[in-house]
Amino acid sequence: MSKKYTAAIVGCGDIAHHHVKGYQLAGVEIVAVTDPLEVAREQYQAEYGIARGFATVEEMLEEAKPDLISVCTWHLLHPGPTIAAARAGVKGVICEKPMAVGMGLADEMVAACEESGTKLVISHQRRFTPGWEKARELVQGGAIGQVMQVDSKVNAGLLNCGTHAIDGVRFILGDPETQWVMGAVERQSERFERDTPIEDGCMALVHMAGGIQFFIQSDLDSHGASPGHFFFRGTEGMVETTETATQLFNGETGGWQEQDLGVASDKIDVIGGRANERQTRELIAWIEGGPEHRGAGRNARHTVEVIMALLQSARQHEVVRFPLQEKGYPLELMVDEGKLQPTQKGRYDIRGYLNREGVDEEAYAKLRATGMGHHQIMKTLSENNKE
Ligand SMILES: NC(=O)c1ccc[n+]([C@@H]2O[C@H](COP(=O)([O-])OP(=O)(O)OC[C@H]3O[C@@H](n4cnc5c(N)ncnc54)[C@H](O)[C@@H]3O)[C@@H](O)[C@H]2O)c1
Repeated sequence: MSKKYTAAIVGCGDIAHHHVKGYQLAGVEIVAVTDPLEVAREQYQAEYGIARGFATVEEMLEEAKPDLISVCTWHLLHPGPTIAAARAGVKGVICEKPMAVGMGLADEMVAACEESGTKLVISHQRRFTPGWEKARELVQGGAIGQVMQVDSKVNAGLLNCGTHAIDGVRFILGDPETQWVMGAVERQSERFERDTPIEDGCMALVHMAGGIQFFIQSDLDSHGASPGHFFFRGTEGMVETTETATQLFNGETGGWQEQDLGVASDKIDVIGGRANERQTRELIAWIEGGPEHRGAGRNARHTVEVIMALLQSARQHEVVRFPLQEKGYPLELMVDEGKLQPTQKGRYDIRGYLNREGVDEEAYAKLRATGMGHHQIMKTLSENNKE
């Protein structure tokens, strides 16, 4: 890295702390933060010594002119700041997952960034965990022969944990093309996640190039559910992996064999730390002419397409072949069309406790001073309120 880069944060909540860590470890100077909540901006500025705070993205881009920005707002607010940054000539954007809620928006993000030369990365930072990297090396190196089947089970919504799992399986498989998806969805309640309507539960069979079949289920059974735990079965063996541990079974291992990841599992950062540092460094290398980032927007767009195809398949009661034609959010379309009629009335948001408006800021500051993260603070405050 020859040049010193500057960065700005958009959305001073929970995940942004990990982006700050990534920039700090990669030697990037954070020059500004953006959040409509003054108290959130001020807290970040004080905690990390960041000079400037802005209420809107437009003001921040105009005044602070950062080289890089991190989009750390809720899902529906990912495309707006990303496209604004591309139009302002920002060199690189690290936008949180899920990239976008619908293919139309994902495509607009990719197009705006490609037009301006802005390098767009979607923060599926688990691609930088040693467990997944080892699994990729084994699978790509032929240790289990030709991959036939992959399994994954997640909780907390397809757009939330599901996107990590789909993206992770794609990463380990070498980012193959998807050919078709068959999906089923249930929404008996008016369930939301960070302001976005989501399913109560779903599952899909994702058929990829080379005949690989990936089965994913979300919110159907929480036992063993994890966005990072996968099981690969091939013609010559099997790999089971999480972000922090990988096991191989084939003709040479004499049973399941724990793989050496070169680092103790409790020293692996699944989020923040080395994961976000390496994600940031790879972006800078890409900006400087290096290879495309492993989390490039064009690649992450494919993960959105799998999610949307699962929902579209449930909407149409048929196999959905790629490329997906529907540009909107099929789950919302199903609700509008009366195809998903909740039997339990009353909107609720499984991440509603993150909403900081109206919070007791004095109590918040006290918990933050103990080193507690935003997620945990908000959970604690909402639990205290219930008592
Ligand atoms: N990659 C991961 O592992 C991971 C983990 C957690 C969350 N996330 C993603 O990060 C995103 C943010 O989640 P979170 O838990 O940090 O939420 P959060 O509620 O903790 O933080 C969001 C912040 O955005 C601010 N905000 C709202 N509107 C804004 C606007 N117009 N401009 C700027 N800021 C605005 C809010 O005031 C809040 O401070 C979500 O999309 C989530 O899926 C990713």
